[in-house]
Amino acid sequence: MDTYLVTGGAGFIGSNFIHYMLKKYDDIKVINLDKLTYAGNLENLKSLNENSNYTFVEGDICDSNIVNDLFQKYDIDFVVNFAAESHVDRSILEPEVFIRTNVLGTVILLNAAKSAWSDGNNFKIGKKYIQISTDEVYGSLGKTGYFKENTPLCPHSPYSSSKASADLMVKAYYDTYKMPVNITRCSNNYGPYQFPEKLIPLIINNCLNKSELPVYGDGLNIRDWLYVEDHCKAIDMVINKGKLGQVYNIGGHNERTNIHIVKTIISYIHDKVDSLVTEDLIKYVQDRKGHDRRYGIDPSKIKTELGWYPETKFEDGIVKTIEWYLQNNDWMESVTSGNYQKYYKEMYS
Ligand code: NAD
Ligand code: DAU
Repeated sequence: MDTYLVTGGAGFIGSNFIHYMLKKYDDIKVINLDKLTYAGNLENLKSLNENSNYTFVEGDICDSNIVNDLFQKYDIDFVVNFAAESHVDRSILEPEVFIRTNVLGTVILLNAAKSAWSDGNNFKIGKKYIQISTDEVYGSLGKTGYFKENTPLCPHSPYSSSKASADLMVKAYYDTYKMPVNITRCSNNYGPYQFPEKLIPLIINNCLNKSELPVYGDGLNIRDWLYVEDHCKAIDMVINKGKLGQVYNIGGHNERTNIHIVKTIISYIHDKVDSLVTEDLIKYVQDRKGHDRRYGIDPSKIKTELGWYPETKFEDGIVKTIEWYLQNNDWMESVTSGNYQKYYKEMYS
């Protein structure tokens, strides 16, 4: 029975990944280590409370005692590190916590795994550390071209710089100690359980409340959207089939401008929910500082080597996503209670 230490599993992608894995495999154990920051929410996992293959541990990946204890207590086969401060706008306001969690936290996990898995020379067979990284480490594209795995790292924001730093530490553990690792770099995910600070759930939530829809700059920045379940499937393939030391880019060839995304959501909610939701709600606001213009992933390596392809077309994925938020209004209410309104005002006033 393989044991997975999943970190940041109470967040958006981590919780989707845990659901995906426990649905697919009944012979694995998942330990979810999460600090439960504002972005972590146990509601995302409540259907697993009775699942004996799932254990939740509240804790910080920067706390080496907690992390080492987990390696003592469990025979961990795979570490899948989702834990991170993940929001670019917050990183512009307060970079320090991004360095702490995203860089120091990664090194603490690497160290603990290395101590548990290596006798000083060789690593036990069958162990692997997977770092969940981002296409933002490559910087920004012009009108043409795609990010490939060998595109030079050129991050711009404090968030993407912290993720690139973490990637370099993972690479250093492979190059120096031959630690078994993979790095995945993926484009913008969307789907259930995404905290409404990110574009898609924020716009859905604001449409439902008939409040302004903030669009940064000219709205023509481009992101390459990937349905979260397709991402989870890719991570599973990298864990099981990825060649050691390799980086895999994961993207759906679903490039859309931000304004297209916003208008698509308005149109769906206008037609299906409330005819008072119209494009009049759009408010062009000050641009993000250092705003990357375009991201676009070339996923040919993971397609050719591992046979992965994204199954969800954007037009279907966005409908599934909006419907999920419509049907899970309680979830949205629970995550937007507390400090959310205060943060929202600070960010958008
Ligand atoms: P998220 O913000 O929704 O979740 C992050 C989780 O990490 C939360 O549950 C939070 O409580 C936890 N966490 C934060 N600091 C921690 C700490 N010090 N110790 C333990 N847990 C901690 O993030 P997400 O969108 O699910 O992203 C997950 C990972 O995927 C991140 O590493 C992110 O960089 C990467 N990524 C995200 C996207 C995307 O579109 N969301 C795309 C590419 C890569
Ligand atoms: O590309 C992968 C990255 O995607 C991940 O590494 C990050 O963790 C994740 O947050 C995401 O980063 P982005 O900055 O691309 O996502 P965000 O949802 O914040 O913004 C998407 C685009 O929409 C971006 O161009 C900024 C714009 N935007 C965002 C918000 C929140 C707006 O125009 N208005 C908004 O209110």
